[in-house]
Amino acid sequence: MEIDVSVAAPGSGSADVLAVCVLDPARPLSAEAERLDERIGGRLGRLAYDRELHGRREHVALLHVEGQPADRLAAVGIGPAEALDADAIRAAAGAVARTVRDFAGTIAWQLDASLPLPLPEQARAAVDGVVLGAYDPGLWKREEQSERALTRLVLWTDEPETLREATERAALIAAWTNRSRDLSNMPPNELTPEVLAARAEEIAGTSEHVTFEALGPEEIRALGMGAFAAVSQGSHNPPRLIVLRYDPPNPSRSELVLGLVGKAVTFDTGGISIKPALNMENMKGDMSGGAAVLASVGAIAELELPLRTLAVVGATENAIGGGAYRPGDILTAMNGRTIEVINTDAEGRLVLADALWYTREQGATHLLDLATLTGAMELALGDLYAGCFGNDSGWRDQVIASGEAVGDHVWPFPLHPRYRRYIDSHFADMKNSSVLRQGSPVLAAEFLQEFVGDGPWAHVDLAGPAFLTYPRPDYLTQRGGTGYGVRLVAELARRLCEPSR
Ligand code: BES
Ligand code: MN
Ligand code: ZN
Repeated sequence: MEIDVSVAAPGSGSADVLAVCVLDPARPLSAEAERLDERIGGRLGRLAYDRELHGRREHVALLHVEGQPADRLAAVGIGPAEALDADAIRAAAGAVARTVRDFAGTIAWQLDASLPLPLPEQARAAVDGVVLGAYDPGLWKREEQSERALTRLVLWTDEPETLREATERAALIAAWTNRSRDLSNMPPNELTPEVLAARAEEIAGTSEHVTFEALGPEEIRALGMGAFAAVSQGSHNPPRLIVLRYDPPNPSRSELVLGLVGKAVTFDTGGISIKPALNMENMKGDMSGGAAVLASVGAIAELELPLRTLAVVGATENAIGGGAYRPGDILTAMNGRTIEVINTDAEGRLVLADALWYTREQGATHLLDLATLTGAMELALGDLYAGCFGNDSGWRDQVIASGEAVGDHVWPFPLHPRYRRYIDSHFADMKNSSVLRQGSPVLAAEFLQEFVGDGPWAHVDLAGPAFLTYPRPDYLTQRGGTGYGVRLVAELARRLCEPSR
């Protein structure tokens, strides 16, 4: 169920729950909490005095206040003022949404100009927290289906007009983020490469400026994509190279084409280099980079950003069978380079190799790929940060800054010519993996770099934050897809539309 988001002056319209932020320590109350407290006879102040109300992060105190000015007040902790950031607001909004979503149809969120975080940032974070925090991954439950009551979020502020645009943009992007999560959470028997392509076609159908194309196995072979084709050959579900082109009527920087490339392995068994059984079901999430790319195009087009965008998603299963590719195989990629397969579980880089080259050939000036590429990236950064590599530090830093501005955390990782030896092969131009147990995310990025052609490229390895094995105690408390990357790409695209400096 999508949540309708709007902005209004305080007290306009009715709400089932009014959320208000509480700092730690709770006393003195922040300006808006104090203003509300005057209407309810100082109850918040007394609760704070008794330490029943405190500002520790994500703590929610629910009070029945009989329409003053809502039926209930949700006083939610946002931690100490010195440490206040947008993530604290996101987590608080997520906690409120989870607490009330089963009985409250409308949440009003009181923005507070006295907090040390600019109002537009508060607004965006509250939208993220509620819309992403109320997400339901249990779409396949047939028993005990909980009927969610929550359908509306209204941000209360004295300056609704100045915040309207930022709020609506955040709501649109958050909705596309949840659509990306839906794709990640779909089971691999339902979400085959063909079905993902059909979903991409639906996304293209939402805008007159987006065109859709999907290449099948013969076309993929005919283009010389020997790396991508090899990964797909063991599966009964045929691959798709999904292409979305967004051509806005008046691009603000006509020289620029943003090339988005996504890894969409709809299920990664590891192939003949098979994965262990524990947690293998999570490998349905190995298409999360591709899902984020497709949803991002949906967001960019709905925002009508004046930026030409070319999205290419390599969709395939990495399966086992008599026809599967093997360790020892030597493949020829679209750019003519030969690759010795050492490990069939290092399949993502093979998919991306041909997808990256194709995207450059099709005219992308700036490349960005999103991929759940290496388990070691999750070991290194956990479930919060993605790692980012690039052949151009300016472009890489723009990607990182965009993610950091909107809650998709990214950290820079190095490339270096001396790492090239990791992929040196005895028999071919390169190998896809190494028995050296060193720097696996770096090795993968070095491999990709061989296929990016001329011009800036950045690679985001989102193996950690894209698909959660364990709940994360913030606003993404649900296991499974997080929609990581949609907010990052939407923000990057918005920034790219600004005239170059
Ligand atoms: N899809 C995996 C990476 C992955 C692992 C993503 C765990 C999310 C969680 C990728 O295809 C893979 O298997 N990578 C291997 C490469 C290795 C064989 C060189 C890895 O990282 O173990
Ligand atoms: Mn793999
Ligand atoms: Zn994989």
